[in-house]
Amino acid sequence: MPIIAPSLLAADFLHLADECTMLNKSEAEWFHLDVMDGRFVPNISFGLPVIEQIRKTTTKVCDVHLMIVEPEKYIEAFKNAGADILSVHIEACPHLHRNIEQIKSLGMKAGVAVNPHTPICFLSDILHDIDVVNLMSVDPGFGGQKFIEFTLEKIRQLRRIIDERGLKVLIEIDGGVTLENAATIVEAGADVLIAGSTVFKSADPIGAIAQLKATT
Ligand code: DX5
Ligand code: ZN
Repeated sequence: MPIIAPSLLAADFLHLADECTMLNKSEAEWFHLDVMDGRFVPNISFGLPVIEQIRKTTTKVCDVHLMIVEPEKYIEAFKNAGADILSVHIEACPHLHRNIEQIKSLGMKAGVAVNPHTPICFLSDILHDIDVVNLMSVDPGFGGQKFIEFTLEKIRQLRRIIDERGLKVLIEIDGGVTLENAATIVEAGADVLIAGSTVFKSADPIGAIAQLKATT
């Protein structure tokens, strides 16, 4: 069964505490927190003070997805805000290995996120050093977009490499995950389903999470 990571980007920010309570009662294991800077992506979301408050509401894993340039400037601050897993974008990191080492040296799990058009082979030399790959299945920057079909083949490719090398790296799929396509995504080899709209725009978010969780 996949790990479920609802993306709070689609939450009701006026009632964020209620949304966190709902997630805590649900079968979701992770909180997915999307940080956007208006530079790496053409949108601005939320940042450190919001994550600090969310952290206080939950003991679940806080999976922070940095869609920002120069993430090295903020890695320690996100640790202090409560991130358990910190992912940086390969496209934003000319010194990726250094950034990953910094994340791990602070005691967090390290993730690398890749845009839909970034080839899987670019991950080859960093795979042994990381815990999670965030495979973007939409162009990052916005919730509620449509799943890009060609990313399914990238899941399969990455699954094959991870298994061949006997690694424990988790594959998370981010963007356009629905109740309809979840099974295909898991079958392709995903370990973690990130879902914003599918969870928070549902009339029954806890039920939607349960349905995603039951994906086989
Ligand atoms: C997009 C974010 C995603 C997004 C997913 O840049 O990284 O996590 O919130 O939202 P949905 O599930 O609505 O596509
Ligand atoms: Zn994300």
